This record gives sequence, structure tokens and C-alpha cells, in this order.
Amino acid sequence: MDGSKPDVTPEGIRIYAPEDFEGMRRAGRVAAEILDEVAPLVRVGATTAEIDAAIAQMVTDKGTVSATIGYRGYQHASCISVNHVVCHGIPGSEIPKSKYEKKKRGDDVLVDGDILNIDVTVILDGWYGDSSRMYIAGSPKPFALRLIDVTHEALMRGIAAAKPGATFGDIGHAIQVYAEGQNCSVVRDFCGHGLGTAFHEPPNVLHYGRPGTGATLRPGMFFTIEPMINLGRYETKTLSDGWTAVTRDGTMSAQFEHSIGITEEGAEIFTLSPAGKFHPTWG
Ligand code: MF3
Ligand code: CO
Ligand code: CO
Repeated sequence: MDGSKPDVTPEGIRIYAPEDFEGMRRAGRVAAEILDEVAPLVRVGATTAEIDAAIAQMVTDKGTVSATIGYRGYQHASCISVNHVVCHGIPGSEIPKSKYEKKKRGDDVLVDGDILNIDVTVILDGWYGDSSRMYIAGSPKPFALRLIDVTHEALMRGIAAAKPGATFGDIGHAIQVYAEGQNCSVVRDFCGHGLGTAFHEPPNVLHYGRPGTGATLRPGMFFTIEPMINLGRYETKTLSDGWTAVTRDGTMSAQFEHSIGITEEGAEIFTLSPAGKFHPTWG
């Protein structure tokens, strides 16, 4: 790098400088703190609107800016994805009913047994911190808790595969082999992404793949890994609101997301929980 223009690989993946890690640490830490602090608000009877309002306040109080408010017309400080919602659930909108539920919900109130992903992205001094975790309301079914454990482990196996010389296919493969080995499926329609001084940059980080395929990882690459894992089939569909993605078969979906940076040795996680509550967020 000559000091004037950023170093970019032939695949268009930006290589950040060693001093850029500090900006990502600071942004990632705020995202993680918010996900820690929101945990006590997630309970039976809470609404996704009030959870999002609390997050919006925390984003401001910490001196950061929400990356999602105003992003492609999105108007909220978080995505809150309940049960069979795969991602991009809109806070305050009616929680969609899957065919496995008896009656229409009609509102955004959390009920006993709901599992939900909360995804927050903040901007601090131009750096993006993007992370999500799973939360529960009341007492979920054992199969739902198992899905959450499998999804967390899938993310951590993907991160373990992220080191210089490995490829993006190696990361996807590590996630896919594990999740499918647990009789779950990996969502194809959404992926992780490069980030740093922008929200979404190359590459697309697929959560499935073949070893040795795709771009080779190098120190200074910053990206997310954010597998969405389903209990049933992997197909999704997007509801008429243009955002909410649900499993086509109505089975539950879970997701965890970290923002990471590739180092000489492996990967540094920028969005670790200061309180040690990445998973589980409850208890
Ligand atoms: N945070 C999400 C991600 O992991 C993106 C949300 S975009 C929004 O990439 F507009 F839906 F908020
Ligand atoms: Co992301
Ligand atoms: Co996210």
C-alpha cells in the first residue's frame, strides 16, 4: 500500500492496515455492549418495538450512529427476527405466524417460547460494528434451544477456519458440514460480507461451500460471518413488506453474527461480549 489508495485484492476485497484494527475494535465493542444490555429487556410481554427503541437510545448514548436507520429505506436501529423469521424482521411489525402456530398473533408482543435474533450495526468514527445473537422469551422447546446451540457452534467453527492461507470456501464448508451433520440446513439466500469503513463490501461470505474454493484469506481482511441455520429446509421467502425473510417450510431459524479481522495467526473477533453473554444471552 502506497499510503494514498487502499490495498484491494483482485477479487475486490480490501486489505486494511494494522492501525485500522483499533477502529473496528471500538465499533465492535459498542455493538457487543448493546447486545449485552438489551438482554434483560427480552421477556414475555415485551414488544419488538420497545426493544428497538431501547437499542436506538443506547446507540445514541454511546456516541455512535445506527448503520441500519436509512439503509435502503430501513427505519430501525435493529432487526428482530422471531422463530421462523430468518433475518431482517422489522421491529414493531406484526410477528408473522408459521403454519406450526395455531392463531394469528396480530401484534409484536413476545410470547412464551419465542426465540429471536437481534442484529445491531453501529458506526463509530466511520468504522462499522455488526453483530447479532439469539435471545429467548420464557421457556422455549428443547428443539429450539438445540437449534440455537447448533447455530452458535456453526459460527464458531466458521471463525476457527478463518486464517491466512485458508479460503472463503473453507469457512463455508466448516459451517455447512457441521450444521448438516446436526440435521439442520444452511440458508443460501443471505450471506456474510466484508465491512470496515462501509457496511457491506466484497466479498460475499457464504455459509456453505467446498474446501479450497473462493478467495484466499489475508491479514487485514475484515468481514462478518453470520450463519442462518434452519431446523427444516433452507429455502426462504421474503414477505410483502420487502424485508422480513422467513423459512418457506415454517420451521424455526437461528443466527449468530460476529465481525472479525484476519491477523497473522488467525482471526480477531471485534464483537466479543464484554459480559461474556454472546451465548447464551440468558440465564
Ligand atoms: N445487520 C445486517 C447484516 O448483518 C443488515 C441489516 S440491513 C437492514 O448485514 F437494513 F435490514 F437493517
Ligand atoms: Co452483517
Ligand atoms: Co448484522
